[in-house]
Amino acid sequence: MDERTSGDVEAGGVERARRLDEQDRLCEFAGRFDTPDDLYLDGNSLGPISDSAETRLEEAVEQWRSFGIKGWSDAEPPWFWYGERLGEQLAPLLGASPEECVATGTTTTNIHTLIGTFLDKLDERTGILVNELDFPTDHYAIRAQLRQRGLDPDENLHLVESRDGRTIETEDIVAAMDEHEVGIVFMPSVLYRSGQLFDIETITREAHDRDIYAGFDLAHSVGVVPHQLSEDDVDFAVWCSYKYLNGGPGAVGGLYVNERHFGTVPALAGWWGHEKETQFDMNLEFTPAESAGAWQITAVPLFSSAPLLGALDLHHEAGIDAIREKSVDLTSYLISLVDEELSTYGCEVGTPREPDRRGGHVAIEHPEAYRISQALRDRGAVVDFRQPNVVRVCPAPLYVGFEEVWEFVQLTADIIEDGIYESYEEDPSGVT
Ligand SMILES: Cc1ncc(COP(=O)(O)O)c(C=O)c1O
Repeated sequence: MDERTSGDVEAGGVERARRLDEQDRLCEFAGRFDTPDDLYLDGNSLGPISDSAETRLEEAVEQWRSFGIKGWSDAEPPWFWYGERLGEQLAPLLGASPEECVATGTTTTNIHTLIGTFLDKLDERTGILVNELDFPTDHYAIRAQLRQRGLDPDENLHLVESRDGRTIETEDIVAAMDEHEVGIVFMPSVLYRSGQLFDIETITREAHDRDIYAGFDLAHSVGVVPHQLSEDDVDFAVWCSYKYLNGGPGAVGGLYVNERHFGTVPALAGWWGHEKETQFDMNLEFTPAESAGAWQITAVPLFSSAPLLGALDLHHEAGIDAIREKSVDLTSYLISLVDEELSTYGCEVGTPREPDRRGGHVAIEHPEAYRISQALRDRGAVVDFRQPNVVRVCPAPLYVGFEEVWEFVQLTADIIEDGIYESYEEDPSGVT
């Protein structure tokens, strides 16, 4: 009998971890990745290289050599359509039609153009609802877009506050949807620090009931949590591809626009968003593509797009539902181990315990989180530190197994028990 019941994985010794690995239907995927360290638990910051990503990158270099400029039309896929082709591959992960998705830009540039676009659609209510635990770039971009329209960011950016410093309650988001002031609600799917998963369906429905647009930053969920953006009727969304999608450092990002908004002129228009059939007519007037492709600005960055095309093959082979199921099992197992083996050392789980309220990573809180994370990295366990007290641990389901989670917990216990972290500097600086 399968020992696992998704979302309810008890702790136990290494024998139990090995049994769980034996039952893992995704275990063969780990062999398709090269991870630089023994315990690579940082796939929510930067996913590792896979054989299929590398093959696509090498192919792109070869196409450049053999086709030169003809690669725009003769390569497979033609470079001219690369963003759209990636959009087709991404669509099943997002629960969207192929036309509603495109690979382009970065999370931040895509926030600029989409927030700008939807601000331009608003008549009077120019308020944008965000939350105080957001990743900062979202606020930087939104503030900039407000400023460019002569709107005061301090007046127009509405912050939902956290009750506990870790999570945001859906009912607090809904209560802050002021029908007289707010025109757009923009929330993350998963909070970058605690890993809380938001209820996109409810937030969107409540926003629409008040005539408010709903947009989401999916950076911490795409590729590990399945989405139903069309069914949920989300207006727009953005994401990056270098985390769970394993597209590589600086990989091209992506965006979704609900088809009912096709035809809208993007705030940051550029020739790559022009209707494809007439793009090379070089008209000085912009005709947007009848798809999310309209929000592309500039020519496809081929070498930061090709690895993503290869990496997505692995996601499709594994299936997003199986990925989510294993992810929930891994995070459940990790949470049980922290409770059993690390709580005596002052570690606390900062991530919601209900599986349907968390994404793919777990926040372990400890007053010495920074020094512990440094000691872990030096011993081959790559995690990251997030201010003020979080060791962020990501058991990414395509290449991390249960035994590795178990080893990580043993190593952490040793580092704290033996005071190994005390030999590290206290001051976090640089990339953590
Ligand atoms: C939630 C979230 N949004 C945005 C970003 C920044 O994305 P980009 O570098 O693609 O602009 C990150 C980066 O980690 C993130 O975690």
